[in-house]
Amino acid sequence: MREACRISAGALKAAGDAVEPGITTAELDSIAEKYILSQGGVPNFKNYEGYPATACISINNEVIHGIPSNRRKIEAGDIVSIDLGAKFEGYHGDNAATFACGDISKQAKRLMEVTRESLYKGIAAALPGGRIGDISHTVQSFVEAQGFSVVREFVGHGIGTHLHEAPEVPNFGVAGHGMRLASGMTLAIEPMVNAGNYGVKVLPDGWTVLTKDGSLSAHFEHTVVITPDGPKIMTVA
Ligand code: MF3
Ligand code: CO
Repeated sequence: MREACRISAGALKAAGDAVEPGITTAELDSIAEKYILSQGGVPNFKNYEGYPATACISINNEVIHGIPSNRRKIEAGDIVSIDLGAKFEGYHGDNAATFACGDISKQAKRLMEVTRESLYKGIAAALPGGRIGDISHTVQSFVEAQGFSVVREFVGHGIGTHLHEAPEVPNFGVAGHGMRLASGMTLAIEPMVNAGNYGVKVLPDGWTVLTKDGSLSAHFEHTVVITPDGPKIMTVA
């Protein structure tokens, strides 16, 4: 699983480093896929419930699950959320980050920073003996104190020999509630944060999730293992 996560992180970095004005989302997807294959991994989103690509690439008001396309060019000022994972010898890794293309607005910058920080605060709350709700509440209270909102309809998840396993890891909830956290558990923690309201809608393509109010959205995700010494991030390149 460490290797699956290492490959996932390397692919995310390769795609993120390639974000520049004029590049298409299909080109970014291809960079990620080539990296995963070069490391002996398998893109684990591809064909998952019929998903057609290696990465989900979601721009500006798109929250998650944007489908890469050779007609979709990234422009200066965009924020670009890339979510992808790799499978290696039967185990899965999963990670996401939002990247800036050129100069972005102050609000976009703050949204990215708050979302990234909410992920790290959520990870720090993943302690053996705690509860899933400790993670959820930590993310939600931090994000809302900054004036942003957490998406309700999509959540983080357990991960291991399947991409999505129990338990769900919501980015909203009550501390002290939910499944007990134990050493050895592997979780994908992934706050999706909207600059406006938390409401989302799905495009007719059946995948792309947008903010209902048209506001910007950001997404950061790591695969984490809970150890007796606390949480360790596995998706590091
Ligand atoms: N991005 C989702 C996650 O982080 C999984 C993607 S669903 C897929 O859990 F179909 F696009 F693969
Ligand atoms: Co995930």
